[in-house]
Amino acid sequence: MGIIYKEKEQVFHLQTKNTSYIMKVVKGKYLAHVYWGKKINTPNMENAQLNRLIGFSATTDNEDKSYSLDFVCQEYPTGCGTDFRIPAISVLFEDGSRNLQLTYDSYKIIKGKPAIKGLPATYAENDAEADTLLITLMDTLQKVKVNLFYTAYRDLDVITRRVEIVNEGTGALTLEKVLSTNVDFETADYDFISLPGAWGRERHVERTSLRSGVQSVESRRGASSHQHNPFMALAAKGTDENQGEVYGFNFVYSGNFTAGVEVDQIFKARAYMGLNDYDFSWLLESGESFQAPEAVMVYSAKGFGDMSRTFHDLYRRHLVRGRFRDEVRPVLVNNWEGTYFDFTEEKILAIAKEAAGLGIELFVLDDGWFGKRNGDDCSLGDWYVNKEKLPGGISGLAEKINQFGMKFGLWFEPEMVSPDSDLYRKHPDWCIHVPGRMRTECRNQLVLDLSRPEVCDYIVDAVSQVLDSANIEYVKWDMNRHMTELGSAGLPVERQKEMAHRYMLGLYDVLERIVSSHPDVLFESCSGGGGRFDAGMLYYMPQTWTSDDTDAVERLSIQYGTSLAYPISTMGSHVSAVPNHQADRVTSIQMRGDVAMSGNFGYELDLTKLPVEEREIIRNQITQYKELRTFIQSGDMYRLASPFEGNHTAWMFISKDGNDIFAAYFQVLCEVNPGIHRMKFTALDPEAVYEVVEDGSRYYGDELMEIGLVVDCYGDFQSRTWRLKKV
Ligand code: DGJ
Repeated sequence: MGIIYKEKEQVFHLQTKNTSYIMKVVKGKYLAHVYWGKKINTPNMENAQLNRLIGFSATTDNEDKSYSLDFVCQEYPTGCGTDFRIPAISVLFEDGSRNLQLTYDSYKIIKGKPAIKGLPATYAENDAEADTLLITLMDTLQKVKVNLFYTAYRDLDVITRRVEIVNEGTGALTLEKVLSTNVDFETADYDFISLPGAWGRERHVERTSLRSGVQSVESRRGASSHQHNPFMALAAKGTDENQGEVYGFNFVYSGNFTAGVEVDQIFKARAYMGLNDYDFSWLLESGESFQAPEAVMVYSAKGFGDMSRTFHDLYRRHLVRGRFRDEVRPVLVNNWEGTYFDFTEEKILAIAKEAAGLGIELFVLDDGWFGKRNGDDCSLGDWYVNKEKLPGGISGLAEKINQFGMKFGLWFEPEMVSPDSDLYRKHPDWCIHVPGRMRTECRNQLVLDLSRPEVCDYIVDAVSQVLDSANIEYVKWDMNRHMTELGSAGLPVERQKEMAHRYMLGLYDVLERIVSSHPDVLFESCSGGGGRFDAGMLYYMPQTWTSDDTDAVERLSIQYGTSLAYPISTMGSHVSAVPNHQADRVTSIQMRGDVAMSGNFGYELDLTKLPVEEREIIRNQITQYKELRTFIQSGDMYRLASPFEGNHTAWMFISKDGNDIFAAYFQVLCEVNPGIHRMKFTALDPEAVYEVVEDGSRYYGDELMEIGLVVDCYGDFQSRTWRLKKV
C-alpha cells in the first residue's frame, strides 16, 4: 500500500486498501493516465494503450509521427499541443501567447499529507494515515511549474488531488483556468450522477447516460449553490446501492466550480473538476504561486452505498475538525419558524423553558436580535443587540437560558450588509459592486467584499465581540444571497476577475480566525438552507443546515441526495409545525420526527403552541434520539429504498461495532389494498441473533436480511422505525 514508483518504466502506482491509481510517463515527457479502479497488485503495464493516431488529430512530435496527445489519457491536459479536448489549465503570457506545454520534470514521495495554506482540505493526523505523491510538470520555455499533488489514504479508498502553479519565469502571467483534477477514462460506458436542485429542493439525485460532448454541473453564483452541488459520480451501467463500479468526485470548495465529463470522438471520457473559469483570472507575478483547491476522488466496486460510506468516513475523520468532530451533537430548538422576526425576550424564554422541560439541550436564537431588524430589509452588518427586544442583551438572555439547563446559540449573517445599516452608511464601498452600475439587491441585501482584508477584519472583530460578550456555545452562520455585479473597490483593474476567488480566500481566513479562537463553540453553516452544503464549509463548521424546506416528505429526497457525499452528522434536520411553511403539507408528528432523527436532530417551531399530547410525543422522540444518536451520527448508513424511485423510502444506521441498528421506513401516500412491503435489513451478521427492541422478538441476521420484517403502514405520510440490538 502507499505509493510505488518503478523507475525503469516510469510508472507511478498509488494504492489504497482496495484501489489502484496508475500513471506513466510516456516518451520520457508526457504524464499519461493509465488506470483507476480495483487494486492491481503488480501491474506490468505492457498492455497499456498509450499511443495511437486518430484521423485529423495532429501529431505531437514532428520527429515521431505516431503519437498524438489527442488520443492519450492524460493527467493534466493543457489543451495546447495536439489535444482538442477540454483543458485543465489555461495561461496567458505577457507576450500574448497562450501556449503552455507541460512535460514531466520530477517527482517526490511525501509521508502524510501537507496542508494547503489558506484553503480547506482533508487532512491526515499522522504520517501513517496517508502518502502523498508530488509530480512536477514544467513548461521549460516559459518557466511555469505545475505541481500535481496526489494523496492516497491508507485505510480508505480515497485519492485526493490538488494543483499548485509556480511562475518561475521573469515576467507575469495570467491564469485563466486552473482545474484541480482531470481523469481520462478509456471508455464512456458510464452514467453521470449529479445533485442539482433549487432553494428548498436541494441535492436531488439525477442520473443520465453519458453521451458525446460535454455534460457538466457548475456554479457561477459565488457560492457552491443550491442549484448544483460540487459533486458528481460516474457509475458503470447497472450500478446500484450494493454493487457496481462508481467513481465519486467532490470539490473541497464553497464558491464557483465546474465539474463535468467530455465524451470524445472515440468514446473516451474526460472527467474534470475545479474552479469555474467564469469571470475568473489570476495575475501571477514572477516568483509567485497559486494554489487550486482540493478534489476528493472515491472509487468503489460495491455501488453507491459503499462510495457514500467512504466519503462519510473521510469527512468525519479527515475533514471536520475540533472537539465536535468526535462529540455527539446536541438536540436543539430554533425559533425561526416559530416566531420569525416577531419575538420578545418573554416569548423566547417561554419556548426555551418548554424545550428544556422536554429534554432539548440547546436553544438557538435566529435572525432578528440585532440593530433594528424586525424584517429582512435592514441592519445586516450592525451586530449589536436590539435592547427593545432583548432588554438584558444577549448575555442576559444566555444566562437565563443557561439557568434552564440549556446551552445558548445565536444566528449571524456576517458576509452581508443591508443598504439600511450603519455599516453601509459608513462604508458604502465595502460591498461587491461595479462603479456606476446598480447594486442589485436580493433579499434587500448586498454582499460584503471579502476580497478586502479590512472587511474581513471587521467581520472577525464584530462577530468575536458578540461571541466573547456572552455564553454562546453554538453559532448558525447564514448567507442569503449570491453575487452579482462582480467587482471590488479594493482591487486594481487587472485583478478584478480575481474577486470571486479572493472572496472565498477571505471567507476561509475569517472562518479560520473565528473558529480557532472559539474552539468550544459548535458552528453550523447555512445559506438559505443548503446553498453552501460543501466540503469546504465542513472543514470549518462541522454541520450545515440542510435545507430551508422542513417538510418531512421533501426532506426524504433532500437528505437522501445529500447523503450521497456528506455524512449524517453534517446534516441539520428539524421537526417543524404543520401545515408546513414551505410545502403547506400536513404530515404526522411521527414521520416528522423519524425523518429529522436521520440527521442532527432538532425542532423549529413554537413548542408552547402544541397540544399536550404532541409535546409528550416530542419528549419521547428526544429520549429515543439521545439513545440512538451516537451511532446515527458516527455509524454506517445504508440506503435501502430511494424516494426518487417510488412511494417508499428506507434507510438504516448501524454502529461501527455492528451491535446497534436503527432503521426507518417512510410511506408518502397511502396505498389502498397494498401489496406486501417488507423491511429487509442489510449489513447484519447472518449468524448472529438480533432483538427488536420495540417488542422483544428475536431473529437471526440472515432472516432479517433475506425475508425481512413486514411493514404495516397505513395512511398518507407515515413512517415506521425499528431498533435492533445484537444479542
Ligand atoms: C435563512 C435560513 O436558512 C433560515 O433558517 C433562517 O435562519 C433565515 N435565513 C433567517 O433570516
